[in-house]
Amino acid sequence: MIFKEILLCKPKYFDVIHYKLNAHMIMKNKVNYNLAIQQWRSLEENLLNNNVKINYIKPKKNLVDMVFSANGGIVFENKAIVSNFRAIPRKNEAKYYVNYFENNGYETFPMITEFEGAGDGLFSHNKSQLWIGHGFRTDIDCKNEIEDIISNNYLDINTLKLVNPNWYHLDTCFCPFGDNNLLIYEGAFDKQSLEKIYNVYNEKDCIKVSYEDAMNFACNSISVPNNIIIGHCFSNNLKKKLKDINYNTIENNMSEFLLSGGSTKCCVLDIEKKGINIGEELQYDNNNNIYYHKMQSSQGDKYMPDFI
Ligand code: ARG
Repeated sequence: MIFKEILLCKPKYFDVIHYKLNAHMIMKNKVNYNLAIQQWRSLEENLLNNNVKINYIKPKKNLVDMVFSANGGIVFENKAIVSNFRAIPRKNEAKYYVNYFENNGYETFPMITEFEGAGDGLFSHNKSQLWIGHGFRTDIDCKNEIEDIISNNYLDINTLKLVNPNWYHLDTCFCPFGDNNLLIYEGAFDKQSLEKIYNVYNEKDCIKVSYEDAMNFACNSISVPNNIIIGHCFSNNLKKKLKDINYNTIENNMSEFLLSGGSTKCCVLDIEKKGINIGEELQYDNNNNIYYHKMQSSQGDKYMPDFI
């Protein structure tokens, strides 16, 4: 999964207050607001330097977690599936995401089942796989609803059970990067889920992250071509493993956001209007803004529309 076009929300009202939505929100330190803004600005700059197109959603007063735009929904082709937050203090965010997507030309589907967006729904393998994490913040039944909305026979949807509260969203322990690589903290999953993962991923393409790196949110990283935008203070071992497969780590200190249980990837939402792309024959229309890609099906080759 490579990020090309994303949605950010400035941490104007960001804070960690009385409620505890995840095991990290223990209010051990007060958020340093100026530092949070500085860290988020640096993330914005790192994204721009890596040619990621940035869009913005307006932060809303009292919605202190809205900076974590990853939780707003997921996008497939021109369909935006908007979250139905389990976290009560975040429920009101959903309507702003609905407005954003409706105003920006997406076919918009507010979820009925509880689902916390790209926090728990991650694409991999050129969007031919969708992984849904459940156990803490997302209802396993959202799979059927999402399947009906996307209705694409070529998309393979798998559910993964999260079993450790430190890794309460899938994007805290599972990070598809590049085309087919994965950063994973295995301790976050049950045995059947690990089997499902390794049925799709070749273990040699996976970097198994240590407990310390995982607690520091190594798996909450953003993949851009040849680079990975990650938090800070990771082991040399992890950096070396990434280097060995030609990935540079761009470190972006996210200390203030870790206090809320989030790092770099939680602050971005992939909103590229793109579907499954097996990278074979692409055909452009006259306006150059829709292309078709060839898919093999039992009825012979079929051209599927894709949006760019
Ligand atoms: N405090 C936020 C919450 O618990 C953090 C969200 C992090 N987002 C994520 N995609 N993992 O909702």
